This record gives sequence, C-alpha cells and structure tokens, in this order.
Amino acid sequence: MTAPLKIAIAGLGTVGGGVLKALHARGSELSERAGRKLEIVAVSARDRKKARASDIAAFQWVDDPIALAASDADVVVELIGGEDGAARALVEAALRAGKHVVTANKALLAHHGAKLAAMAEERGLALKFEAAVAGGIPIVKALRESLIAHGIVSVRGILNGTCNFILTDMEKTGRSFAEVLKDAQRLGYAESDPALDIGGGDTAHKLALLSSLAFGTAPDLKNMFVEGIEHITPEDIVYAREFGYRIKLLGVARRVGNGIDQRVQPAMVRGGTPLGAVDGAFNAVAADAGEAGPYFFEGRGAGEGPTASAVIADIVDIALGSFEPAFGRPATALKPLAPAAPGAAAAAYYLRFEVLDMPGVLAEIANHLAESQVSIESMLQRGRSPGEPVSIVMITHETPQAAVAGALKAIATSDKVLAPPRMIPMEAG
Ligand SMILES: NC(=O)c1ccc[n+]([C@@H]2O[C@H](COP(=O)([O-])OP(=O)(O)OC[C@H]3O[C@@H](n4cnc5c(N)ncnc54)[C@H](OP(=O)(O)O)[C@@H]3O)[C@@H](O)[C@H]2O)c1
Repeated sequence: MTAPLKIAIAGLGTVGGGVLKALHARGSELSERAGRKLEIVAVSARDRKKARASDIAAFQWVDDPIALAASDADVVVELIGGEDGAARALVEAALRAGKHVVTANKALLAHHGAKLAAMAEERGLALKFEAAVAGGIPIVKALRESLIAHGIVSVRGILNGTCNFILTDMEKTGRSFAEVLKDAQRLGYAESDPALDIGGGDTAHKLALLSSLAFGTAPDLKNMFVEGIEHITPEDIVYAREFGYRIKLLGVARRVGNGIDQRVQPAMVRGGTPLGAVDGAFNAVAADAGEAGPYFFEGRGAGEGPTASAVIADIVDIALGSFEPAFGRPATALKPLAPAAPGAAAAAYYLRFEVLDMPGVLAEIANHLAESQVSIESMLQRGRSPGEPVSIVMITHETPQAAVAGALKAIATSDKVLAPPRMIPMEAG
C-alpha cells in the first residue's frame, strides 16, 4: 500500500473550510481516486479559538503558518491570500523544505509566479493553483495540459463574480453602480473594501495567469491595461441593450501581431451569446484554441464548494504523481511577455458623447472621427429641448484602438462636449 499523502493546510476560511469539509465528507472516495490515503496532519489560521465549520481537533494546530513548512506534510496548501506576507513566506519556505504546494492565491502568483515556479521545478516539486482562476472551472488544467496542440489565439473571461453580479443587477433594476454595490456588500457578494474587485485588479491577477498558461510567458501585470466598472452608468447599460448588447467586465489576452494584448475592461458583449448570457456571480472563459476551435467554460467562480473542488483536484493530482510545470512549460522557458504595439488591437467601439443639443455638434464629432479614419456603423440620438444636454451614441466599425482614442481626445476639447466621451469595446460573445 502506498504511503498516505500528508497534507498541511494554512487558512481555514471560505476555501480552507470548504477543503476540510469535502475531505471530511468524501475522504475515502477521494483517497481511492488518489491511490493513497489523503491525510491532513496539521492546520493553521490566525485565530485558534474561532469556531470552524469542521472539527479540527484531530489535526496538529500550528500558530505560525510558516512553521507548516517544517511539519512532516508532503503537501502544503496555502489558503491565506495576499501577494506577500504570510502567504508568500509560507509558499517559499514550503518549497525550500521540499514540500509540494497547492494554492488558490492569484495575487501571489500574478506577482511572483515565475519565481515560485522555478523554485518548485528546481526541486522536482509541484506548484498547483487551479482554484486561483475561475473557482471550480478547470480552466488551468485545460490550458496547461489539454488545449496545447495548436496554440492559443485568445483567452477571454468573465473572471470576477462581484463585478458580474453588480452589472447584472444594474441591468435588471436600472439602479446606479453605487446603489447596487451597497446591496452587493450587504448580501456578501462584495467585500467591505471592494476596490480590488470593482477596479479590475482581481480580474487582472487571474488574466495574468491565464495569459501565462496560454502563451508561455511569465505572468505579467505591468503590460496590462486595467479599467474597472466604477464608471459604468445605467444609461450605458440601457444603450447597450438597445443595440442588443450587455456590458461585462472582461479579461482578454490575445495575440495581436507579434505581441500579446492583455486588457481588463468593461466590454459590450452581444446578448444571447455564451459570454453575453453569463449572469450573476458566475464566471466563464472562452478560449480560441486555433485549429482545435473555440471552447467555452462556465461555472461558479467562488465560494467554498467550487474552490474546494479545484484545490482537491490539485491535491489528488499530486498524490497521483502528476508534477507538470506550473505554467505548462519549464519555468526557465517562460518568455517575458512581448506586449502588442500600443493601440494596435482593433475592435468595434461603442461611443457615447454628452453634448449640448445645438446645430453643428454632430458634424464636429463626425469630422474628428473621419480625420482619424473611424467609420460609424450605427448611431442613436435622444432628442431633448434645444440647448439642453443630449447623448449621442455611436457604434464604430472595427478600428485600431489608437485611432478611436485619438479622435475622442480631439472631440473632448470641444466646448459643446459636456463630459469626457465614453469608449467601450465590443467583444464577440
Ligand atoms: N473565497 C473564494 O471564493 C475564493 C475563490 C478563489 C480564490 N480564493 C483565494 O483563496 C485564498 C483564501 O481566500 P478565502 O476567501 O478562503 O479567505 P478567508 O475566508 O478570508 O480566509 C483566510 C484564512 O486565512 C487565515 N489567515 C489570514 N491571515 C493569516 C495569517 N497571517 N496567518 C495565518 N492565517 C491567516 C484566516 O484565519 P482566521 O480564520 O483565523 O481569521 C482564515 O482562516 C485567497 O488567496 C483568495 O484569493 C478565494
């Protein structure tokens, strides 16, 4: 009989609690799949006295999580969170001590992934992170091991359930971003400090990992455009619907020319398409795998059930001896990301101008757009009384981003334009 796989868990919150529960409920079935007993030997969290959903009395309690690296565990599971601090110190100490590592920590890996992957490989250890991106959706494994034959052209995802919940609710109720955010906080869908979610930072962390897996590059947050959803108004949502679209916060990484364009931003996605139909707190990833075709994954991106599912899949893989490189290529082969030329990525754009309703405004906007070679596919104007503010909404044909941005910069200087023009890319669903 193969020796048990000894597991130490740091962090017993949503994810750690879920892992304990699942191992408690289905331990023998999971051990059977793993070909050896999965045995928790030690746990750590901040507060020993805190009530836990599962009984932890049978496990050794360690006050300092970093001390788990010195335990007799084969695998250290880091479920504390944060790009530095205790989480990073523990993962580094565990690898140095010859322990495999499983983590759900996208912030840590987006910042330090290449270095940690190298540390693991030098020692013949696994570093696994399925739960770090899109919760229960097995997208890390799919990109790392399955969709490899033809190369990846693009990977696009709805990767933050909080943002998708807020945008879906704004659409349903017509309420403002601020009102819906308050509700989301009350219902537990948004953190009391929601900045990392609504500002796009959390999606950026996940996109950096997807991009690395897809393109064989080191995770790179520096060469990424990141915009959150704070500025989306009910008006934008209503206009989007009139054109048949919905607004989603997307993380997109795609090949453009010889480089990779990485961006996190609100995008117009046609309603009724797979991405356009993802509602509430769900996550989804669409991958274009070249000759292998397009793939679409949807599921729960957070919560104890989905994240525990992903963590346990990683633990079972380790028990079975599957130690492939963290990002699908040897860490030494991970290339620095070559960013696409600034503004080269092309898309059709939704543009909204808040202007004074007076003769000549439309002509002035049209002139600037024409000068930048931006052509318009459709337009909508809601009339109010002459001399009052009015919204002009346009959808452009596919145009390089730099051309549209240049035209908007010129238009914004007009004294008839009352607010900075809005520019939202349209994305295929
Ligand atoms: N929640 C999700 O749905 C989700 C989804 C995907 C990925 N993740 C990732 O999973 C990780 C954990 O998230 P979570 O939602 O489970 O967090 P959480 O509920 O806040 O739990 C964090 C746990 O870490 C412990 N902890 C915090 N600081 C510590 C320290 N300095 N030393 C020792 N223990 C410490 C806490 O101890 P106490 O319990 O004693 O306070 C708690 O048990 C994060 O990296 C997160 O990004 C979470």
